[in-house]
Parts: sequence; structure tokens; C-alpha cells
Amino acid sequence: MISPGYPLEMAYFTRALAAVGGTVIGVGDQPPSALPEEARSTLAHYEHVSLSDEGAVLGALQRLARHVSIDRVECLWEPYMILAAQLRESFGVPGMTVEQTVPFRDKERMKQAIDAAGIRTPWHVSATTVAAVWEAAEQVGYPLIVKPIAGAGSADTYRVDSAQELAKVLPLLRHVPEVSVEEFVDGEEFTYDTVCADGSILFENVMWYRPRPLQMKMHEWISPTSIVLRDLTVPNLQGGRQMGAEVLPALGFRTGFTHMEWYRKSDGDAVFGEIGARPPGARVVDLMNYASDGDLYVAWAEAVVHGRISQPLERWYNAGCVFKRANGVGRITHVEGLDKLMADYGEHVVLVDLLPVGAPRRDWRAVLISDGLIIVRHSELQQVIEMTERFAAELHMYAS
Ligand SMILES: Nc1ncnc2c1ncn2[C@@H]1O[C@H](COP(=O)(O)OP(=O)(O)O)[C@@H](O)[C@H]1O
Ligand SMILES: [Mg+2]
Repeated sequence: MISPGYPLEMAYFTRALAAVGGTVIGVGDQPPSALPEEARSTLAHYEHVSLSDEGAVLGALQRLARHVSIDRVECLWEPYMILAAQLRESFGVPGMTVEQTVPFRDKERMKQAIDAAGIRTPWHVSATTVAAVWEAAEQVGYPLIVKPIAGAGSADTYRVDSAQELAKVLPLLRHVPEVSVEEFVDGEEFTYDTVCADGSILFENVMWYRPRPLQMKMHEWISPTSIVLRDLTVPNLQGGRQMGAEVLPALGFRTGFTHMEWYRKSDGDAVFGEIGARPPGARVVDLMNYASDGDLYVAWAEAVVHGRISQPLERWYNAGCVFKRANGVGRITHVEGLDKLMADYGEHVVLVDLLPVGAPRRDWRAVLISDGLIIVRHSELQQVIEMTERFAAELHMYAS
């Protein structure tokens, strides 16, 4: 398991691999003392090595391989997906090769592969120079999106409505070696996430972003909300589910977690956004667990180790998460509105995880969870919409 304790949820996946019978060797750049307990207590062995030094990782594992057999290489942390694929090739173990992993990392290669399968992507052109961006903008038209081909968390992503705006945005992209210039797709934004084994989808998840992620990133006053949906049979999700089922074979995905984003236009058409060969971040796996009363960490581990999920995963609830950003800079001073909201909805609130008074604010641009989160759940979607909207509007954190 590459990076078995960072980010934190990796430790839950590591623990799950061990829980379903795997003997797990961790390879990571965290010092052993910094490993979360869930990982430290379940790893059979830990190699502390810089993950950015591929030669060092390979060397460490070759030494180990004289004593133990390495049967699988798992990595759920985006920056090291290619490293994991290289290791699989070096050790001749099954799973995704470098060739298969690249389309999950390079958004242009991704869309080329999806286009070739006849699936609807936004119009897109890649560019490595300022002149090429202008040319791409001519072809694509406004409004458009400019974004890195290997971005994450909406970093360096801009909606551009005119040539004047493009002129202002271009200097901000100087540090990005290659961008995608895309048609701006208006609509609602959803995920389509799966756990697969041997090319079969064993578990599906659809999450609704409110508002769209780029909006969350642009305006600090917004309380980003994610809702994992209970009923996946409603008509307006079928385009995305169908698309997801076509995208996975188009990219040759076989086993593990996937996280796709798609747009639903007002005319109902589904348009591909992007896909990762890993679970979604920002506590979405926990939302899946709250929605199903299940354990998706274990379900993934079973899929990887045994090729099946032993417990059926039913969706009982819609589960919604609201991330809060404090007003002001510095340390949290007080929270307002929580008592009233808890009095109204307490029985449906499954998690309140806000920074305590006195804690320094987190950087909301860098981490979606910002200064804390609330998770609610209910079998009726309308109830979750109402509760999340009220937590967004009426719960206030302050800092100074
Ligand atoms: N072609 C597009 N049309 C409309 N919005 C887009 C488009 N591409 C990106 N966005 C917005 O920017 C966000 C981030 O882009 P995305 O491709 O998902 O990259 P990442 O999440 O890896 O940063 C999306 O969630 C969406 O809100
Ligand atoms: Mg995205």
C-alpha cells in the first residue's frame, strides 16, 4: 500500500486490507511515528522512503522481495498512481499498468480515450503556449474553461467569458505547463463512483455537488455541500450512470475504486467531466457509509483481495455534508446557530466536526473541509436539501 497513512483516510483503507486477510506492507514518506494508529497497528511492515524518489522506492521493495512475495500494489492517493503502476510492472503483479494509468492522470489523454468510445465530453483542445491558448479559444468559443491537464481541487481553473478576460487569466497560468481549453458546460454537477472487481461494478454511488465545485472555490462565503443520493433509479441520473458504465470499459478499468464527475445539462444531456482511479476525497467515502450503514473501506478491500463484496450494501439514506468557513481571519472565537439547528434536526445529524474555539482557521482554498463540517441524513431527499441549506445559511463560525 503506497502512502498507507496519508491523507488520513488512507489509514482506513490500509486497516481494511488487513481486516479482510491481506498482509499489508506500507511504503510512504511519513515517518513511522506520524502514521495514524489505524495504519501503524495493522501494517505487517513499513518502509519509510521518499515517494518522489522512484529509484529508492524500487530499491527498498526489491530488497524486501527477497524475503516476501509482493502480490498486489495498491495506491489510492492521486500523486502516486503512476509510481504504483511502475511498481506493478517491475514486480509483474496484476493491476493497472502505466499505459492504463496515464489516461486517469492526464485529462487530455483521458478525454481522447473517452471521445474514441463515442462518449460526450466538453469540446476540448490542449495547449502548452500562450499562442496555442488563443488559438484554442478561437476554436472552442466563449464561455470557456481553462484548466491544468493534471489539476485537482479546481486549482488554476478559470471560467473565461471573453477575450478580455482571457488576457487577464493567461498571466495567472504561467506556472502551468499544459492546459485544457474546454467548452463551458452549464448545468448541475454530480459524481459517479464505483467499487469494481474484474471489470464488474459491485457498488455505485452518485453524489450531487451544491453548488458546482468551481463556485465553491471562487467564493469564500459559500458553504460547499455534497449530497450522496439514496435513489439512483430516478430518471435524471440515468444519463450519468449509463455514461459511467461505458467510461470504465473504455479506459480498461478492472478492480478498485473509481470517482467520475459528470455534468447534467438543463436539457437532460449528460457530459463527461473527469475520472480518477481512486475514491473521492473530502469525506465522501464516509458519506457513502452513512448513506448505507455499510463500510466502503472494507468493501473496497474485499473487492481488491477477494474479488467480491460479502455484505450487500443497501442505500437507506441520502447523506449530506456541509463544509463551513468562518467569518474573519485568525482563530475561531465562537459559533452561532448550532443550538437552534440541533433542536430542529438533531436526530438526523450524524456528525458535527467543527474546529474548536481557539483553533487557527484552515486555508479554505487549499482544503475543502475548511473550518469544519456537519453531516445529516434522511431517507427523503427533500429533507436533506432543507437541512443542508439551513446549516449552510444559519450556522456561522467566527474568527479573529
Ligand atoms: N468544461 C467545463 N464546463 C463547466 N465547468 C467546468 C468545466 N471544466 C471544469 N469545470 C469546473 O471546474 C471544476 C474543476 O474541474 P475538474 O475538471 O473537475 O478538475 P479538478 O477537480 O481535478 O480540479 C469542475 O468541478 C467544474 O465545476
Ligand atoms: Mg473535479
